[in-house]
Amino acid sequence: MADAAPAPKDPATIRREDYRPPAWFIPEVELDFQLDLERTVVRSKLDVRRSKSAKADEPLVLQGDDISPTSVKVDGEARTDWTLVEGDLVLPLNGASHSVEIEVELDPSTNTQLMGLYASNDMLCTQCEAEGFRRITFAPDRPDVLSRYQVRMEADKAKFPVLLCNGDKVAEGDGENGRHWVQWNDPWPKPSYLFALVAGDLVANNDSFTTRSGKPVELNIWVRDGDLDRTGHAMKALKDSMRWDEETYGREYDLGLFNIVAVSDFNMGAMENKGLNIFNSRYILADPEVATDADFDGIEGVVAHEYFHNWSGNRVTCRDWFQLSLKEGFTVYRDQSFSADMGSAALKRIEDVRILRAAQFPEDAGPLAHPIRPESYQEISNFYTATIYNKGAEVIRMMNTLMGAESFRKGTDLYFDRHDGEAATCEDFVTAMEDGGEIDLKQFRNWYETPGTPRVTANLSHDPQTGTATVHLSQKIAQNGEKPKSSELVIPLKTALLDPETGAHQGEQLLLLDQTEKSFVLEGYRDHPVLSINRGFSAPIILESSQTAEQLAFLSAHDDDPFARFEAVQRLMTGYLTAKVLGTPVDRDIILHAVAKILGDKEIDPAFLAELLVLPSEAFLGDQMVEVDPQAIHDEREKLRGKIAVQFEKQFRKLYKSCWPGEFSLDAEARANRKLRNVTLGYLAASYTDDAAELAFEQYREADNMTAMQGALAVLSHLEAEERTIAFDDFYAKFKSNPLVLDKWFSLQAMSLRPDTVKRIDSLSRHPDFTLSNPNRVRALYGAFTGNQVRFHDLSGKGYQMIADMVIALDKQNPQTAARFIPQLGRWRRYERERSELMRLALEKIAAQPELSKDVSEQVHKSLA
Ligand code: ARG
Ligand code: ZN
Repeated sequence: MADAAPAPKDPATIRREDYRPPAWFIPEVELDFQLDLERTVVRSKLDVRRSKSAKADEPLVLQGDDISPTSVKVDGEARTDWTLVEGDLVLPLNGASHSVEIEVELDPSTNTQLMGLYASNDMLCTQCEAEGFRRITFAPDRPDVLSRYQVRMEADKAKFPVLLCNGDKVAEGDGENGRHWVQWNDPWPKPSYLFALVAGDLVANNDSFTTRSGKPVELNIWVRDGDLDRTGHAMKALKDSMRWDEETYGREYDLGLFNIVAVSDFNMGAMENKGLNIFNSRYILADPEVATDADFDGIEGVVAHEYFHNWSGNRVTCRDWFQLSLKEGFTVYRDQSFSADMGSAALKRIEDVRILRAAQFPEDAGPLAHPIRPESYQEISNFYTATIYNKGAEVIRMMNTLMGAESFRKGTDLYFDRHDGEAATCEDFVTAMEDGGEIDLKQFRNWYETPGTPRVTANLSHDPQTGTATVHLSQKIAQNGEKPKSSELVIPLKTALLDPETGAHQGEQLLLLDQTEKSFVLEGYRDHPVLSINRGFSAPIILESSQTAEQLAFLSAHDDDPFARFEAVQRLMTGYLTAKVLGTPVDRDIILHAVAKILGDKEIDPAFLAELLVLPSEAFLGDQMVEVDPQAIHDEREKLRGKIAVQFEKQFRKLYKSCWPGEFSLDAEARANRKLRNVTLGYLAASYTDDAAELAFEQYREADNMTAMQGALAVLSHLEAEERTIAFDDFYAKFKSNPLVLDKWFSLQAMSLRPDTVKRIDSLSRHPDFTLSNPNRVRALYGAFTGNQVRFHDLSGKGYQMIADMVIALDKQNPQTAARFIPQLGRWRRYERERSELMRLALEKIAAQPELSKDVSEQVHKSLA
């Protein structure tokens, strides 16, 4: 189990159109685990039933990955006539139903892939989605086979005092030789990917919740001793989520027990196993001293996400993995709405769009583009993407926009009702929304099969004679990756026409662009209005409008839709910066005036002000250019930052002082102050004043919370000052025993703009606290580094080589996490010639390795194709 199995030369492609219903069903599964770190014995008893549509001699095929049976029995008789075909157990069976018993031995301590049953610290845990259950025992490891599970776990009581599994605990007792056992029963039929167990020395934050129909639920968040006082925020998020899903979607929890376990070694964010969610500890553990406000938000969002899966994912699951967005897109939409309701909807929307643009738009414009319902894959782990998740959520959001909240809810009610206990498809979801919400979504379905971000042009013309304003719209999709089948999407664009003097408008309209070109004539405009379109980012598109800088400046001062206002500032800055990079003459004063207006607007609250003041990221700017030169983009962006900083230094200094947050609190006002303080500190540092390092250092020293500390360190990280060294050394000494905070120490250095960052990464990779075995640590160092545009894209090519070498090494132990780094290099065609070639060479080097995993192989070959 130690190493990735050598992949076949040409990994098989799985196609959506090839879906066949299962030949065998397994209504009941009994599992018995004799658990130990090095030697775990798994006995399974499957009650197998031949499907009516299956042939009478169709053998039973049970998936297996890197396991082999030590015993196979059918109806109590030992059998030897089975074969292993590419890891799968093929067993000839004659009857319509049998009892199949299989025994497997595992060594969890050598499972470095973190799929299946593995050890993390001294605890045992599982990750089965998508295809990890087959690494635990042989089973029909596909989501459309649902079984009821009864599980007996036995282990050494001293080493593993806590034994957890799905469902309800029904019995427990002590065995011989210091062992103990627990019997679990999950009454809800589930696919194998939702199976989970945990064994370890854990303590719980224990709480309770009463559902709206009066059923009591015991809640536990299990962590290692010492972390207990960092579970309060996650527990609050869990209870808030439970209430919210009852109120918003009418969904109640359906077991008497809900367990969450935090583990340190985890490939992704978290996992929604029935009644036993397993979390990357970074999405559970928080207190103000170790977690930033963004960390707190991440915890709230992910706890909600996994909880919401209990209905959107577990009660109604996916027929096959091509339907992944059925549960993920919908559940992301649900967690986004929840967070919006818990905090500021406007800020949440800005944040969600930022993520979509940073992660999904580039994916959709590159060699790994795929529709939210893909047509094919080689390794399903590669499809847990921003497209499936975040664009998937945007598609659900558009349905809500088209239908209205009430009709949307009728649709989801019907969906849950109609498909409860089933493995459904995206098509089932859309049909339920149509039937329940009484709407025709025929053309809207194109979103499910069309990759690429649509480009929408919007122009406004005005006839003063008749007082009519006409919005001319057109759409086109950049063709990349998989070919779109149909190109005309239904694009809902929330629009308002603003009075050119006051910014007032007569109400928002929803314009439906459902043809290649369409015009909308609106009456009653004496003066030429200003167009505010795609308000709230109502559609996940790239807007190409011919708006002038003056119009954008007007919107950035007057638009009453917070997202649209934010967007106007972003577009104004983006237009200026991309022009500068290209050497096109462009007016800077208009930017400075816009900033002056924003800074002078007493109505703006501090959190929103902070958002408005952040310049578009270097990565985003690059995405707007035909050919990316990261150095040129960086230089122009820094120049503008410096200019704004110098011009408004006094205001920034005043703001910085005024938003001293006082005693720590998680309330909106205190958070807003912390955010604005960090943004203004950034500007003060960019204003070439000599006290920048001093100021940041002072913030660092005085900070009573991680948001302020990290903000200070982020500023110091770029500077050539002794304060930087002192602060980083101090931070390390303070937090070296807290892995999540140590991750920040690695990340902050990896994001440094200093010219020696590439060298620093190299030495950090040999730091005693660095390890490839922990995905959080790998992401902290290398993930942060690949996001550091100007340093990752260092012209020496050393950044690319380091990533390639790391991927090659990591692929041998953890293919899933290794494959996540390919897209960064995979964007090579977008860069200027020299870097492009160096990036391609790095990919070629990976491709030339003899034993690549399916995960990395698929991504590399698609990227080079
Ligand atoms: N379903 C999980 C979620 O909540 C993601 C798990 C995916 N894990 C994996 N190893 N591919 O989004
Ligand atoms: Zn999910």
